[in-house]
Amino acid sequence: MKDFKYYTPTEVVFGKQSEEKVAELVKKYGGTKVLVHYGGQSAIKSGLLDKVCGLLSQEGVEYLMLGGVVPNPRLSKVYEGIELCRKEGVDFILAVGGGSVIDSAKAIACGVPYEGDVWDFYLGKLHAEVCLPVASVLTIPAAGSEMSESSVITNEDGGIKLGYSNDITRPKFAIMNPVRTYTLPSYQTAAGVTDMIMHTMERYFTHDDDMTLTTEVAEAVMRTLMDSIFAVLKNPEDYRHRAQIMWGGSIAHNGLTGCGVADDWATHQLEHELSGMFDVTHGAGLAAVWPSWARYVYKENVSRFVRFAVNVMGVTNDFTDPEGTALKGIEAMERFYHAIGMPINIHELIGRDITDDEIKEMARKCSRDYKTTQGCFKVLNHIDMETIYQMAK
Ligand code: NZQ
Ligand code: ZN
Repeated sequence: MKDFKYYTPTEVVFGKQSEEKVAELVKKYGGTKVLVHYGGQSAIKSGLLDKVCGLLSQEGVEYLMLGGVVPNPRLSKVYEGIELCRKEGVDFILAVGGGSVIDSAKAIACGVPYEGDVWDFYLGKLHAEVCLPVASVLTIPAAGSEMSESSVITNEDGGIKLGYSNDITRPKFAIMNPVRTYTLPSYQTAAGVTDMIMHTMERYFTHDDDMTLTTEVAEAVMRTLMDSIFAVLKNPEDYRHRAQIMWGGSIAHNGLTGCGVADDWATHQLEHELSGMFDVTHGAGLAAVWPSWARYVYKENVSRFVRFAVNVMGVTNDFTDPEGTALKGIEAMERFYHAIGMPINIHELIGRDITDDEIKEMARKCSRDYKTTQGCFKVLNHIDMETIYQMAK
């Protein structure tokens, strides 16, 4: 069992009227001049943005707005935000949206007090010591950024998608109203659930399998999400199941399912190259890669894959054939992905065959020019990465 730190400082305000608290919470955490950061049209169309701004005005909190964050948020928008915040003396960033908006907000927050280029943090050149406070009104449960310490930004120059983790960027508060997720398209709902299940699996597939409580929590999270996704695809306004999914997204990525274990993250790293190159939805990219990663690595710890197959996917344990049981679990996961409209390979993800050159390029980037390995369930070098992409073709 690994020693661990569990640090989850975000105040969660969850429920049907939760956004009513936004101005009170901004003030509580010291915001006097707020950048309201948002994405494309969804928060405008639903009236959420107007509501949030109205509440800030009512409470006398000054604000300005910056929209236009796109999925796989871009560095150029981060630069725009940094400049605006400096010019206007912003002291608090409120993200109204999903992972992309929150990640863009975190990057802006780190960039404002830093004299150099904020991309330095993502390149791992140095660590931010200070940042502006960030908080969110969450509209799509998926990335878990509302409680996480990380953000992922795409540099348009070269299509390079990199993550940066720092506890100081953990949001001060997260407002979560499941009703606000009723308008999500089925594809985004399913991709979101795929992402949160993957956040759990990145920690579940580990060699530190003696932290039983963490394992049991992870299995409950995965089973609940798999149950609830079918209910909301059938009835998008099913509050009870929307609520499980919304809270599940946060629990899956706030550290709880990682206590006492070494986490892997290879599937995420492999996926970031897909969304960096093809601008695909992150959750769908994960579904396209995971089955191939799993088939490539399961022999490292067959019993863990057997446990997953039986306890999460409901496969009958064939005690005479552990490998067969493990593989049935992977096949069951593929059936689950298809059942919720997710791809299980790259062709299904991008709608065409990927070329060998593109695969080589992704393996080069994922291994940071052949210098870095990824994952720890099985440590992957660039040749392993290339092989997994080939298997996932
Ligand atoms: O831009 P708008 O119009 O708002 O539309 C968005 C967007 O097109 C739409 N949407 C959001 N809420 C909606 C809605 N549509 C209807 N009704 C609503 N209530 O959904 C689309 C996707 O939004 P996005 O924010 O991109 O989704 P998600 O939360 O999945 O975030 C994905 C990003 O998070 C990163 C991913 O790599 C990706 O860039 N991740 C961040 C992590 C973190 N910070 O800890 C961890 C994750 O592993 C992930 O890598
Ligand atoms: Zn993810």
